[in-house]
Amino acid sequence: MNAIVSWLLVMTSVILVDSVRVDSSLFFKKKGCDPRCTVTQSNFTGNLNFPSECQTVCADIYIDETCDLSEVQLTSLFKNMKHLIGSLVVNGTKLTSGKFLAGLETIVTDHYDIVWANNTEMVELGLSNLSVIDCRRLEISQNSKMTDLSLLNLQTALSSSNTASYVWLEVYKLSANFCMPFDQMEVFLAIQNLNLAYVKANYCPTKSDSTRIYGDVIIDSNSNFDSMKSVETIFGSLIINGTDLENLDFLKNLKYIAPLGSTDDENEIKSFNSLHKIYRASINGHSCEAIEYKEKMRIKEWKAVVVKDFSFIVIGISVVVMVLLTCIVFWLKKYRTVRPVKSSSINL
Ligand SMILES: *[C@@H]1O[C@H](CO)[C@@H](O)[C@H](O)[C@H]1NC(C)=O
Ligand SMILES: *[C@@H]1O[C@H](CO)[C@@H](O)[C@H](O)[C@H]1NC(C)=O
Ligand SMILES: *[C@@H]1O[C@H](CO)[C@@H](O)[C@H](O)[C@H]1NC(C)=O
Ligand SMILES: *[C@@H]1O[C@H](CO)[C@@H](O)[C@H](O)[C@H]1NC(C)=O
Ligand SMILES: *[C@@H]1O[C@H](CO)[C@@H](O)[C@H](O)[C@H]1NC(C)=O
Repeated sequence: MNAIVSWLLVMTSVILVDSVRVDSSLFFKKKGCDPRCTVTQSNFTGNLNFPSECQTVCADIYIDETCDLSEVQLTSLFKNMKHLIGSLVVNGTKLTSGKFLAGLETIVTDHYDIVWANNTEMVELGLSNLSVIDCRRLEISQNSKMTDLSLLNLQTALSSSNTASYVWLEVYKLSANFCMPFDQMEVFLAIQNLNLAYVKANYCPTKSDSTRIYGDVIIDSNSNFDSMKSVETIFGSLIINGTDLENLDFLKNLKYIAPLGSTDDENEIKSFNSLHKIYRASINGHSCEAIEYKEKMRIKEWKAVVVKDFSFIVIGISVVVMVLLTCIVFWLKKYRTVRPVKSSSINL
């Protein structure tokens, strides 16, 4: 429920922001950008003076089919850039690799997105050193030849724009041969506020071992509970059905339950079907149901608070009304009793 609300907020702000592409100069000022390392023009094409000597660059980098630089030229242009303050869009190019930004470590875009889409020749993303993103969304989509994501250094996802508590990771419509390695998924799962509901891919088929299980796990009364004790990640879903378990201690090492399922169906991408499918199960003796339950409790508590606030308002209004009524009654009484006295005194 919360996820849906924040998704709606994000989408609303996407619409708002995209329709009003504000000048970034205020943002750059706020971030204390060095004027020598700042590119103020609102989009990026090849023929501008890029401050290639800077490690921290303030710019909105927009690379599309109109960019006439080769990959070699782009690599040399960005060779020193480790930190980007501004937005990054690589959209609809014929570039074959994103390695020209391999040195990039942090991207801080405020309320914009990082988009890497429609690059039909691109085989690898190449952002191998990227470790911090501060944005609303990181979208990697419709790169129909991309088989290599390799965002293995990603550690932090922030959403400083206060409309959303999540950073949405959207990965869809990559090469038909793309698959999600377990290591990569664990990198994503470890980042608390990265929302993975829009990751559309299948896992690379890999044998299960004692800590990682690939596939759905169904636990019933016939299951071997001991074999589950060392499991840390289930790359699939977990169903506990028809047991007379009293506790879930046999899942004490379970950290993540992360089912993925590819779909190129636009409708499913747009619908909320997959929301809440991925649990970061910090189990510690609690089951996923417990986590879902907690989530439900949180919503319940939130509702209770609202109701409590509401009842305070009702009580407050009643008190005010009562005080007012009392005053009116007193005033009326006084008016009624004083007036005859007054009139009688006049008469006297
Ligand atoms: C980028 O700027 C150029 C001129 O400065 C303009 O012609 C072009 O339409 C802009 N592109 C985008 C995507 O904003
Ligand atoms: C990418 O390009 C397509 C058309 O080529 C355009 O419709 C889309 O809005 C662009 N996306 C971004 C994020 O600029
Ligand atoms: C990526 O980071 C590593 C380790 O800090 C560094 O050795 C390497 O040069 C960086 N890559 C690029 C392309 O800058
Ligand atoms: C990719 O291109 C299509 C068609 O040109 C466009 O509708 C879509 O918005 C683009 N995707 C992104 C993320 O810009
Ligand atoms: C639970 O087990 C019952 C009977 O064994 C079965 O009918 C039902 O489909 C199972 N539910 C799930 C979610 O697997």
